[in-house]
Amino acid sequence: MPPAPSRVTGAPPEVTVLGSVLLSASRSPWLRQAVTSVPATRGVVDRFVAGEDRADAVRAVADLVERGLTVTVDHLGEDTTDAATAGAVRAAYVDALAAFAEAGIAKSVEVSVKLSAVGQALAADGAAVSLENARAICDAASAVGTTVTFDMEDHTTVDKTLAVVHELRRDFPWVGCVLQSMLRRTEGDCHDLAGPGSRVRLVKGAYREPASVAFQDTTDVDRAYVRCLKILMAGQGYPMVASHDPRLVAIAAHLAERAGRGRDDFEFQLLYGVRPDEQRRLADDGYRVRVYVPYGTDWYGYFMRRLAERPANVVFLLRALAGRG
Ligand code: FDA
Repeated sequence: MPPAPSRVTGAPPEVTVLGSVLLSASRSPWLRQAVTSVPATRGVVDRFVAGEDRADAVRAVADLVERGLTVTVDHLGEDTTDAATAGAVRAAYVDALAAFAEAGIAKSVEVSVKLSAVGQALAADGAAVSLENARAICDAASAVGTTVTFDMEDHTTVDKTLAVVHELRRDFPWVGCVLQSMLRRTEGDCHDLAGPGSRVRLVKGAYREPASVAFQDTTDVDRAYVRCLKILMAGQGYPMVASHDPRLVAIAAHLAERAGRGRDDFEFQLLYGVRPDEQRRLADDGYRVRVYVPYGTDWYGYFMRRLAERPANVVFLLRALAGRG
């Protein structure tokens, strides 16, 4: 069977192939070793990653908050295969939340958590371990007066992730989740999650998915994004519009206005290092803007997905590797 195409199928063929290769490479241990061991890569990674330790994260967050932006912080890591690492990730989040409180910025910064980083994929009791770790992170967020959003990973994890979110919302009604417009199921999930108090981040989707579950053409992904936006904006929850796509940003602003939402009744979210000028413009126009700030040493998978989204970024990497960065 041929490999399933990536979501960049609507793009020119050379972009499609490169994006697909990069998404496959994001799961390759061999390439991980090759890319992460070259010091020159660091300069390109710094564009997308705030640094390796907590102090770097606090510095980057404080700078953004100072400039009137809000933040969601991701402690990098995914696909954890042992309980000790899952526990260490949980501790890193708890400590980071305490550090944000100490720096007086906790109200402006929430955290984004991948359930696979806190144990979801563990062979023994993955569901229970990840729920327990996620609950501890929610407790810590609650203690400093902020929130948690659970990132969405590939389609095989969606039901498990939504089940955890559903369970946590009993005790922490502010828990947010992510839905990916590329998945055919997502319009239905938007309907289910558009109720009072829900916080849904809508993204296009960053994983390589088969045609049986996901739209393959960018136009179809974008159209689905607009259909999902309409549902969320008309609903009673708090939509979090996570995209750098100028057309979708404009449509979201229009739909929010049409639904009678004020500029603080939903938010735009963009990734650290991507379209910073647009982050500024939206904030200056009075919209709530949240920047997704990743930090940590385990940046390989995140970094490769950013390259796959915009293969032009590969040029920066190649230049850096050639010593001309
Ligand atoms: P698109 O990829 O079409 O990009 C539109 C334009 O934005 C491009 O033409 C370019 O100008 C710019 N751009 C986009 N990506 C860039 C990059 N890497 N470098 C430079 N410029 C770039 N996905 C997921 O599956 N699960 C999740 O939990 C999340 N979480 C998440 C949080 C936040 C805050 C954001 C913004 C995104 C995510 N994503 C995600 C990623 C998302 O699914 C998607 O892959 C990216 O946002 C890229 O899609 P866009 O909507 O930006 O459009």
